[in-house]
Amino acid sequence: MEGHGYYNAHSEIQARSAVEADAMLERALAAVAVSSGPLTIADFGSAQGRNSMRQMALALDRLTERAGAGRDIMVVHTDLPHCDFASLFATLETAPDSYRRTRDHVFASAIGRSFYERLLPAESLTFGWSAFAVHWMSTLPLTLRSHIWTNLAAPDEAGPLAEVAATDWRNFLAHRARELVPCGQLVLVMGARDASGASGLEPMMDLANRVLGELVAEGRLDADAYAGMTIPARPRARDEFSAPFDDGALPTLVIEELAIAETPNAAMLRWQETGDAAAFAADITGFFIAAFAPCLFGEDQSLRDLFTARFTAAVALHPAQIARPLVTATLRIARR
Ligand SMILES: C[S@@+](CC[C@H](N)C(=O)[O-])C[C@H]1O[C@@H](n2cnc3c(N)ncnc32)[C@H](O)[C@@H]1O
Repeated sequence: MEGHGYYNAHSEIQARSAVEADAMLERALAAVAVSSGPLTIADFGSAQGRNSMRQMALALDRLTERAGAGRDIMVVHTDLPHCDFASLFATLETAPDSYRRTRDHVFASAIGRSFYERLLPAESLTFGWSAFAVHWMSTLPLTLRSHIWTNLAAPDEAGPLAEVAATDWRNFLAHRARELVPCGQLVLVMGARDASGASGLEPMMDLANRVLGELVAEGRLDADAYAGMTIPARPRARDEFSAPFDDGALPTLVIEELAIAETPNAAMLRWQETGDAAAFAADITGFFIAAFAPCLFGEDQSLRDLFTARFTAAVALHPAQIARPLVTATLRIARR
């Protein structure tokens, strides 16, 4: 994600969408075991932390209600080693809504390692949360020939992408199966494919791809550089989520709930209310840059700035085409 706190400032779309998981979160927190000793909760793929504050506070309050105020709770935020952890720690110390502010029995820490690896001691995790992270791939098996979005891959490109997404999902679950305490739970929110295969981002990604194509045609983006541009994220479909549970690979885990639905797009709702296409374009561009600029543009600041200007103008011309709800999967998974 874009560093220096940029993701924190431009991830309202993810935050609004994740609110739809609140009811599932409540059910998980009512069901988890809070037997004895300190409790651990984890936030997998925290980025700079702002969007996790609300769910962590809710989890802490529910667990404290159930276990008593004398029970210490450790919150572990995890992300990749290059994550902007400085912004995460600053958020924990200074954000008005930081869960650290009013809870003396709560401790915070961070782990910089992929969640497709083991992160926590066996049977130590009471509750795990993750939002908009587990659709990111551990590795890209190929770069797309004519698009940047894996959901719009050519048929011969789709298979290897699906294989990595399947392996990543199994690895994520297998490690969490070891880490969860018996009767611990996970609530996971992530981008997904609906029954028609759509993720909701396709019009935006088509427009971004078109802008990049124009830059290539104008000689302002090297064709080889464009050929290397693929966003390493792969939304999964319902049967892909359930496959490891259906084939008995994870005997200690059970899917309690799986919902794939369109969730509100905060920028789209505001545009529908105000009709302000320029504000909508700024919101969508902020969302795009925060999530995808590092994997597309790396350190190339001038290309990032050129794309930002062109993309913002293009979105402002076609707001109705871009405005779509996000297709989101929400899962509640329990350890037996
Ligand atoms: C779109 S951000 C989501 C941040 C936050 N959870 C939210 O809801 O806004 C996705 C985060 O997942 C992290 N991520 C991607 N792949 C990961 C992996 N294999 N292990 C840990 N974190 C990963 C990214 O670095 C990024 O910070």
